[in-house]
Amino acid sequence: MSELNLILLGPPGAGKGTQAQRLIDDFRLPYVATGEMLRTAVREGTPLGHEAAKYMNNGDLVPDEVIIGVTVERLQQGDTADGFILDGFPRTVDQAKALDAELQRVGRTLTAALLIDTPDEEVVRRISGRRQCVKNEQHVYHVEFDPPKHEGVCDQDGARLVQRDDDKPDTVRHRLDVYHDQTEPVIGYYDDRGVLRRFDGTRSPTEVHDHIRATLATLRLEESL
Ligand code: AP5
Repeated sequence: MSELNLILLGPPGAGKGTQAQRLIDDFRLPYVATGEMLRTAVREGTPLGHEAAKYMNNGDLVPDEVIIGVTVERLQQGDTADGFILDGFPRTVDQAKALDAELQRVGRTLTAALLIDTPDEEVVRRISGRRQCVKNEQHVYHVEFDPPKHEGVCDQDGARLVQRDDDKPDTVRHRLDVYHDQTEPVIGYYDDRGVLRRFDGTRSPTEVHDHIRATLATLRLEESL
């Protein structure tokens, strides 16, 4: 398979970021996470960050016209030549169409949209216990399911662990409503195009990862036949 162009889909807290870290280790592909890009912009106080903060703190989606341009621009960078792992985009059917248009423009195709299916009650349990490192938000833990060795301290760099601003219970409920309303149609969009692959997100991180790897190995085998 020449390129591995992957999308991670699923509700907030499904484990998209957790699986992305494992797939990065497997395939050494660049990780394009729109939530992370936006949180960095908010922290740095850029114009994008000022605009995004108005929506993110309430758990709403940033408007398509704000996010599509920055994501497409990121995918045009040279490091994505062998593929990418896209997390958090597309979140609306219009974003999915914009991504298709861009891939078509450059003669590329999507390898798979990996859906990590996780019920709402599990999402709430996961997000309420999630803690992330202040130095590197890709270092993610869970107080119950994946605790750090020392409470409140990142295993990898010794920095403090904190709760994300949009991980408060009321905001999480709203993010789930937004997911069902605006992002679920994206699942049908990719199913219709034959690229959707579903995974049971209630399984352990290792089991989910094993299933994803087995699916990608099958896709590669099919392509080589
Ligand atoms: P974003 O950062 O993309 O957040 P999200 O989609 O809500 O996803 P999360 O990061 O909350 O969860 P995750 O699935 O990565 O789970 P994780 O691996 O951490 O977006 C944030 C905001 O940015 C949006 O609300 C929106 O405002 C804006 N935005 C971003 N993209 C946008 C776009 N395209 N358009 C418009 N607006 C956009 O896992 C969660 C917890 O569970 C962790 O503690 C982990 O340790 C644990 N865990 C993971 N897997 C398992 C498992 N299998 N079993 C037990 N525990 C597990």
